[in-house]
Amino acid sequence: MGTPILAPSMLAADHTRLAEDIKGVESAGCTWLHVDIMDGHFVPNLTFGPQTVADLRPKTDLFLDVHLMLDNPQDFVEHFIKAGADQVTIHVEPDYDVSACLAKIRSLGAKCGVVFNPGTPASAVEPYLDEIDIVLAMTVQPGFGGQSFQASVLEKTAQVAAWRQTRGLDFRIEVDGGVNAENAPLCRKAGVDTFVAGTAFFKSADREKFRQDIETLA
Ligand code: DX5
Ligand code: ZN
Repeated sequence: MGTPILAPSMLAADHTRLAEDIKGVESAGCTWLHVDIMDGHFVPNLTFGPQTVADLRPKTDLFLDVHLMLDNPQDFVEHFIKAGADQVTIHVEPDYDVSACLAKIRSLGAKCGVVFNPGTPASAVEPYLDEIDIVLAMTVQPGFGGQSFQASVLEKTAQVAAWRQTRGLDFRIEVDGGVNAENAPLCRKAGVDTFVAGTAFFKSADREKFRQDIETLA
């Protein structure tokens, strides 16, 4: 299991002043930024596009963890990687060639991962475990920030962590949705090493302490 990393979600930032809010992510000592991309079809909301990533890229050295919530991610991965994404994660639920899309992400020089929703079984990501850098388990139905964490998803992260161990693999396991200081230790016990937090991070009175509390979990 990797050392814990906090990835604040830009969705919870002020969208009229992203660059300033990202400086706040850096000054809290974070190294990652989670960027949610929604298409209004796979999820009922819209957020950012490749231009947002391209404009942020020269302003920050944060590792840009781009989470594509799209029906047709294969049509967009190149745009986001050329814009500066360091990692691109794609959902397993839509009907497209997931393995080919992962290979495309890698061939373009970025890290890659698969994402699955709370209602999707862990078996849906199992075929890809030796092709990826990260598995992202959604702990809310994707589409909106500020929802309640679904603890039942941790049974699936524990299963994925067991596969990781038995197969001698070293991909990261990330959770996204409703993650906060109270449930992060439970996630850690269930094999999680990468913690997305939007609302809890941006509303925290002491963001540096919030980061430290998560990144020092045993
Ligand atoms: C939800 C997004 C999340 C969201 C998490 O669809 O994928 O990344 O920003 O926000 P919080 O932490 O507020 O649940
Ligand atoms: Zn996300």
